[in-house]
Amino acid sequence: MPAWLLYIFVSFVCVLAATALFFFTVTRGALIMRSIMPGSSGDAAHVYPIYSNLRLIRMIDFQPIIAAILLFQYDRLVSAITDDLQHTNLRSKNVLITSCAFGNVIPRVVNAAVDSGARRVLIADIIKNELDHAQSKLLAHAGKIEFLEENAIAMKQADGSVAANVIFFLLHELPHHLKGEALKEAMRVLEPGGKLYLAEFHRPKLWVLRALSWTYFKVFEPLGLALWDSHDPVKQLEAMGGVTCERRTVFFGNFQIVVATKDKVA
Ligand SMILES: C[S@@+](CC[C@H](N)C(=O)[O-])C[C@H]1O[C@@H](n2cnc3c(N)ncnc32)[C@H](O)[C@@H]1O
Repeated sequence: MPAWLLYIFVSFVCVLAATALFFFTVTRGALIMRSIMPGSSGDAAHVYPIYSNLRLIRMIDFQPIIAAILLFQYDRLVSAITDDLQHTNLRSKNVLITSCAFGNVIPRVVNAAVDSGARRVLIADIIKNELDHAQSKLLAHAGKIEFLEENAIAMKQADGSVAANVIFFLLHELPHHLKGEALKEAMRVLEPGGKLYLAEFHRPKLWVLRALSWTYFKVFEPLGLALWDSHDPVKQLEAMGGVTCERRTVFFGNFQIVVATKDKVA
């Protein structure tokens, strides 16, 4: 092998390893450290530093990076939600986004909701820095948006107060016992006939992808694997009753979009 090719190969491996180490440090590694340090419990103890530290949020939140993390399916996943919102009459209704996410999902959901007539869009997150960061992307519809520092498992909104609720890749980061709680809250605040839009990881159909995905979750996000079976969101929602779920999977089954419609007569 020529020396220059070897040099390129070694550099590539080093960059890959450094990136993996960086992401491990600001995600699971930090949670491991927290779990062994005293005084680090609390409602937000499960939140990675990449979602709580403003510098890290700003460093990572670039569309190409975020698209790559979701295997370049980001746009497709967001479009599945916004296309449906655009075909829903939201005149004088409230729309909720439960938890912030990187990339342009929040501005796109806000635009779709406002175009469909939404009166207000509520954006809730347990971390204030995430809300401040989201606000910086939403100057266009500032008067219509409310930012709420709230926990997805104990929302302050009244029962049946929103027509749509969007949860984008939150469940896989929640401790298992909170996944069902967050879904219950998401359905509680929905009005009859209202829709919960859920984008999440799903068990891939291809074994190669399944093996890679399994390894990724084991190393970086061990709370995500339960979505494949024991904490399948559709099973959890259907077990609650009063809801009709439609699930669409994309990219060989690696991702899912669930639309859960709350029954009109509960
Ligand atoms: C929804 S996930 C987004 C992950 C995804 N990888 C992305 O595209 O950005 C991360 C967000 O969820 C928020 N979050 C975590 N636990 C929460 C909870 N219990 N209630 C509300 N927000 C929560 C975090 O603060 C963070 O803003």
